[in-house]
Amino acid sequence: MLFQPPIPASYMQMDPADIVARIEQRRRELGKRLVILGHHYQQDEVIRHADFTGDSLKLSQIAADQNGAEFVVFCGVHFMAESADILTEDSVKVFLPDLSAGCSMADMAAYDQVEEAWEFLSANTTERIIPITYVNSAANIKAFCGLHGGACCTSSNAPKVLAWALSQGDKVLFLPDQHLGRNTAYAMGHPLESMVVYDPAELDGGLRADQVRDAQFILWKGHCSVHQLFTAGQCEALRANEPDRTIIVHPECSWEVVQKADLAGSTEFIIKTIEEAAPGSKWAVGTEVHLVNRLAKTHIDKDVRSLATIQCLCTTMYRISPQHLLWCLDGIASGHPVNQISVKPQVREGALLALSRMLENVSSTPVAVSGGAV
Ligand code: 13P
Ligand code: SF4
Repeated sequence: MLFQPPIPASYMQMDPADIVARIEQRRRELGKRLVILGHHYQQDEVIRHADFTGDSLKLSQIAADQNGAEFVVFCGVHFMAESADILTEDSVKVFLPDLSAGCSMADMAAYDQVEEAWEFLSANTTERIIPITYVNSAANIKAFCGLHGGACCTSSNAPKVLAWALSQGDKVLFLPDQHLGRNTAYAMGHPLESMVVYDPAELDGGLRADQVRDAQFILWKGHCSVHQLFTAGQCEALRANEPDRTIIVHPECSWEVVQKADLAGSTEFIIKTIEEAAPGSKWAVGTEVHLVNRLAKTHIDKDVRSLATIQCLCTTMYRISPQHLLWCLDGIASGHPVNQISVKPQVREGALLALSRMLENVSSTPVAVSGGAV
């Protein structure tokens, strides 16, 4: 990974209209050599410049298709740009406009911790454990899973990947989001009693040998700091005050929230569901605020609002600003690129295995992780 110099002050002083014009000019100059990808949580001022938008799965699929391009600029977070770099050939250079756009959930599983957990779990069961990591994880965690017979998943294909994992082994170690793991396994019919939580901050993950032996799902104690702001209390208050409003949430929300919601699924699932809903229908959405606001603005014939009364903002997604995007494009156009993401070859191989298994287990349309239990 290249060092990120500070963004020159001149970008921060530019007029917003000039920034738009210069980004568009750079896009025209670079033509087909450049592809800009944008995750649904990006701010409107950035996503308007994207060639493709999507959830994590769709963007991984699109990234894997970009071998004809020279430069992929990923308006999203670090693990997404890493996945794009792994999935494209060496000739394609991948950039993240601001290298500090990380993901707090991905940071909750460090490689050494996962190795330690694996040793402890393997020593306490004779059954085959398949490690599955949510794509929201560092490339070396993906590599660990790939090299130990496992795979990646996203919120769009988690049920398919878990079913695949159970066809390969007896137990699943699910990293790093305990909520996506629990919500998915429960929706597939596995009881909560078949799941335990491994806490990397505790000795032996806080688990006894018999708990490891008896569990079918070992869920890593990680979470999304944005989606944990949605609560069961918000769902209850909404049911009491507005019983005709449908609650749709992301499966990174807690199990309690997902159970009280009507529907749960990835950002692509949420978008598609609201797009296809009847005019006049009312929605409370449990996901990042930029997507909720965009849905409300796009579907003026429907009543869309956040499930929370506080702002649920992903501060790291928000680090990608139009100024950073322009700076990145200027660097590419001038031959002095900044903020390239380059995964080490020794990590790439294992991570590619895990990502390829993820892409083999895809549903044709975004699936619900749970229908909820209203
Ligand atoms: P999806 O867009 O894949 O649903 O993921 C949401 C998310 O939190 C990305 O970091
Ligand atoms: Fe990470 Fe949550 Fe932000 Fe997604 S919304 S990038 S999981 S912190």
